[in-house]
Amino acid sequence: MNEIGNIVILTGAGISAESGLRTFRAEDGLWEDHPVEQVATPQGFAHDPGLVQRFYDERRANVRGASPNAAHLALGRLDAQWKGELLIVTQNIDDLHERGGAARVLHMHGEALSVWCVACDARHHWTGTLSDGPPCPACGQVAMRPDIVWFGEMPYRMEEIFAAIARADLFVSIGTSGAVYPAAGFVQQASASGARTLELNLEESLGSRLFDETRLGMASELVPAWVDQLLGAPLP
Ligand code: APR
Repeated sequence: MNEIGNIVILTGAGISAESGLRTFRAEDGLWEDHPVEQVATPQGFAHDPGLVQRFYDERRANVRGASPNAAHLALGRLDAQWKGELLIVTQNIDDLHERGGAARVLHMHGEALSVWCVACDARHHWTGTLSDGPPCPACGQVAMRPDIVWFGEMPYRMEEIFAAIARADLFVSIGTSGAVYPAAGFVQQASASGARTLELNLEESLGSRLFDETRLGMASELVPAWVDQLLGAPLP
């Protein structure tokens, strides 16, 4: 695999499932108890801001209580050792990639531990709650919302992502169902620009047929094995 220089890795909720954070579309997934339209759209927020703030207060608390698992740690090791370009594009709002040692991480759907003041446009690192209406530390207004990309909003840093995919020799998707665009379309862009494509997921996803190779299993097992393979360590 020495010819591989540039890597783009897309991650989804499946990589954090073994850290105790619920995925979205499983039978016991987050969208089962919380209709998407209510908690993950601008219209839902306008209709019942308290409900939405409480939902993300809970997400923030859960993220703080979770720890990176073997898959996050393996990607942290890869990021530290990989000499070529590498970008971990995550749909996840948790900070487990960073706590797993990865630095080259891009949160395309926002971050649980960031809040955004819609009055003054400031963003703040935030570990507490918003449902109790704290004032923005920058402007003093009570106008902070979760710094999360909701359905109907534009994901962050798309130009950077597309540019990285265009340069990639290898595109790897980990723990995502392939249900949400634009992330679900990255594999096709990567293939079109000549990258090899690999999927690591618990089960076949909506996009499995689009990948050159799919490996099925738990992220905590598949990801460390793949990283070892890539870095040239002996396989277990
Ligand atoms: N290891 C590997 N894969 C797993 C594991 C595991 N331990 N557990 C679950 N998975 C897989 C599931 O089989 C599923 O295909 O992870 C995938 C999770 O899919 P979703 O719940 O749809 O999560 P995701 O793809 O990240 O969702 C995308 O949807 O609502 C939005 O903004 C939200 O970023 C999210 C986006």
